[in-house]
Amino acid sequence: MPVVLHVGCGPKDIRRMPAYFQDGTWREIRLDIDAAVRPDVLGSMTDMGAVESGSVEAVFSSHNIEHLFPHEVPVALAEFQRVLGPTGFALITCPDLQTVASHVANGRLLDPLYQSGLGPITPLDILYGHRESIARGNHFMAHRGGFTMRTLGAALQETGFGRVVIHRRQPHFDLWAVAMRTDPGEEAGNALAGRLFPT
Ligand SMILES: C[S@@+](CC[C@H](N)C(=O)[O-])C[C@H]1O[C@@H](n2cnc3c(N)ncnc32)[C@H](O)[C@@H]1O
Repeated sequence: MPVVLHVGCGPKDIRRMPAYFQDGTWREIRLDIDAAVRPDVLGSMTDMGAVESGSVEAVFSSHNIEHLFPHEVPVALAEFQRVLGPTGFALITCPDLQTVASHVANGRLLDPLYQSGLGPITPLDILYGHRESIARGNHFMAHRGGFTMRTLGAALQETGFGRVVIHRRQPHFDLWAVAMRTDPGEEAGNALAGRLFPT
């Protein structure tokens, strides 16, 4: 059974996984820095030493890498790459700061942009982390960095992935990237991205 390492998983909820991983063939291993979400592996994505090199077919990271300081990003992406087997891939989604910045520039810092499971999300929440969670004392929810399509693509290329495909989803304010450990070629890479990315 292929394994998907769900990094920064949050509370257990299969509905948080993309449809691709919900076909009954995947085994999910949940990793998070916050013991309160009861992960299978407790730790930071910058040091996933508990996960053997080349031992998973996929890494899934959703609204998670923006919690790192910029200097930690290459460390975490190298960890994602290390734990993947030769035909494995990392599926990463995070806020698109370029789209969010246009709302800030238009004076809408505190206007809700969309509803999440946590409630309404404003540009300020996207820039610095979900304010209500942080006010309750959950500092793991603070954001320390962020990405545009260009900077996320560059960070993944610099990690040395074989092929990277990125999609900027508007008006959803997010980026979706798939980074393949080995290059399967343009056609196969785009086909995989097409199956993984939401519409
Ligand atoms: C905004 S939540 C996203 C939860 C879930 N992935 C989702 O999309 O609904 C961010 C998660 O990343 C976790 N996190 C923050 N920093 C982390 C780190 N350095 N390593 C692993 N997980 C981290 C937090 O504890 C939290 O569960």
